[in-house]
Amino acid sequence: HDLAGFVAGLPKAELHLHIEGSLEPELMFALAKRNRVAIPFDSVEAVRAAYSFSNLQDFLDIYYQGADVLRVEEDFRDLATAYFDRAAADAVRHAEIFFDPQTHTDRGISFDVVVTGLLAGMAEAEAKHGLTSKLILCFLRHLDEEAAFATLKAAEPWLDRIAAVGLDSSEVGHPPSKFERVFARAGEMGLLRVAHAGEEGPPAYVHEALDLLHIDRLDHGNRALEDPALVTRLARSGMTFTVCPLSNLKLCVIDDIDAHPIERMLRLGLRATVNSDDPAYFGGYVNDNYRALIPAGKLDAGDFATLARNSFLGSFLDDATVSRHL
Ligand code: HPA
Ligand code: ZN
Repeated sequence: HDLAGFVAGLPKAELHLHIEGSLEPELMFALAKRNRVAIPFDSVEAVRAAYSFSNLQDFLDIYYQGADVLRVEEDFRDLATAYFDRAAADAVRHAEIFFDPQTHTDRGISFDVVVTGLLAGMAEAEAKHGLTSKLILCFLRHLDEEAAFATLKAAEPWLDRIAAVGLDSSEVGHPPSKFERVFARAGEMGLLRVAHAGEEGPPAYVHEALDLLHIDRLDHGNRALEDPALVTRLARSGMTFTVCPLSNLKLCVIDDIDAHPIERMLRLGLRATVNSDDPAYFGGYVNDNYRALIPAGKLDAGDFATLARNSFLGSFLDDATVSRHL
């Protein structure tokens, strides 16, 4: 219990958070009402009851549907504010949040509405909590290269407010190679690069993310552990893994939380971090994810401090700012 309190109070950065995945059922209902959007649920309880997934695609289908209540700038600001208020309570000092512009532009919501709303929430969080943040624009990998290029084009006026590009959505069948040229262009534009790889996809996808997308950080990365040479490479290069324990459990990437490989990652010398992914859907914010790792008894206070420290080391903050947080 002492350990739980210690872990909860550790200052931390959150590096793997889909802002659309922080849409709680209560806010979904409130926005549905405000925007007069019909949703296929009668109650908050019915929404929560639908959150039972057997794989990534099961989740994505319901996650994209939920996002339909987000229509105007104020909705994106309220979404971000709700997340930052919750994160601040978990001692999150800095967050690098993903957003999925294509989920919105494909419904006729402009890129500018999404970004303006999110930036308003980010400014408010800094003023209110001293919580700093950065934006990561994710391409939906089930869509084609041309759509990703169009999204990158829409981001051009906002380049000074976007830290990185990422790659999310349905992994298997949509390898990193599909976006090699888009990521090359993003790099030329001065953006950092991250990608979801090795969540459901094979170690070969992690190799592609490194060699073809030139990623600066690896999202999930669990299945890299199946390839010892890849593990050696990732350990030597100091690659940060943004690991999401409760997401892994809810999406059946693992069978049992006590068998989560994060302890193995640390022992292998990998720079692992703990994150919440889609907290409204997976049953917990970042401290819930840290706390879920305690009962297995494989991590001590020093290990948890390392995980929190790794979150700053793996962030896209400049070195001086990282030092101030450590
Ligand atoms: N994986 C892939 N796509 C996603 C996820 C995830 O965990 N969360 C939101 N989009
Ligand atoms: Zn994710």
